[in-house]
Amino acid sequence: MITLTINDQEVKARKGWTLLEAARHHGVDIPTLCYHEAVAPSGACRLCMVELKDGDWSKLVASCIYPVADGLNVYTETPKVQNVRRWVLEMLLAACPGSEEIATLARRYGVTTTRFATKSANEACMVCGLCVRVCEEVVGLSAIATVDRGVHKRVGAPYLKPTDVCVACGSCVTICPTGAMAKIFDTVRGEPQTKLTQLQA
Ligand code: SF4
Ligand code: FES
Repeated sequence: MITLTINDQEVKARKGWTLLEAARHHGVDIPTLCYHEAVAPSGACRLCMVELKDGDWSKLVASCIYPVADGLNVYTETPKVQNVRRWVLEMLLAACPGSEEIATLARRYGVTTTRFATKSANEACMVCGLCVRVCEEVVGLSAIATVDRGVHKRVGAPYLKPTDVCVACGSCVTICPTGAMAKIFDTVRGEPQTKLTQLQA
């Protein structure tokens, strides 16, 4: 077992756990979006940042990918953590104006407006990749992929062509933290009517 402190409370953690796993095990709340215990963490959204401190030294790290270690002093609600959390939520409000889930989470942390350039009103995907990872790691398929790069990066069927690989299990819709996959889903597997027409041709 490993001994560390979280918000000045000494706690034990198993070797191999992340800071997030240790915090949640001990009932400490850290907000997350791109994390789900069913798939490997990616550290994509940075909402789960916490502060490590040692004397005058301090560093912000993503708790979902940072491993526990003996003697770490972890803080989950310092001014630096709250600032970066608000900053991330502002960016997400701009990136996902069509997501009620993001707006609700942001409101919970007092963020209701954004200084960043806002995407189109229907955009809800934060390109966290959870849908891609659950399809590959849990379902054992790769019906969803990230396509394009940089600001054009998005998720969809590989090569943006509806795919028969999809078994319509809905895992991607369930795991999506923003509600975006519910809207993208039919473009991945193809509209049922289109498939019927193809089968009849
Ligand atoms: S559709 Fe949902 S789960 Fe997939 S990348 Fe976008 S926000 Fe993440
Ligand atoms: S939940 Fe840790 S980076 Fe997204």
